Amino acid sequence: MAQIFATDRDGTKHELEARERASLMEILKQAGLSIEALCSGSCQCATCHVLIEEPWLSKLKPQTDFEIATLEGEGSELQANSRLACQIKWQDDLDGIVLTVAPEA
Ligand code: FES
Repeated sequence: MAQIFATDRDGTKHELEARERASLMEILKQAGLSIEALCSGSCQCATCHVLIEEPWLSKLKPQTDFEIATLEGEGSELQANSRLACQIKWQDDLDGIVLTVAPEA
């Protein structure tokens, strides 16, 4: 089973199993990490902000203008590896992905 290595906002490390056709947001939220997902994945709230490590960041589909605008409107400091977890559908080449839940805005 594909794995996700996620660090929560408080520094707690989690090893999660990926699920086909789920978004990263859904997997993280179901596992109890501090992902609020207030808009339920419609790219409007940025409460699913995560920081994705390389080489997985480069494997993701490019951000849409809508995702960029939502992240920029969030109010927290953006990093070069900032992404919205709800906009990332699981794909097999993400096995082993390393990410951190971004600090609260
Ligand atoms: S859940 Fe709201 S932007 Fe991702």
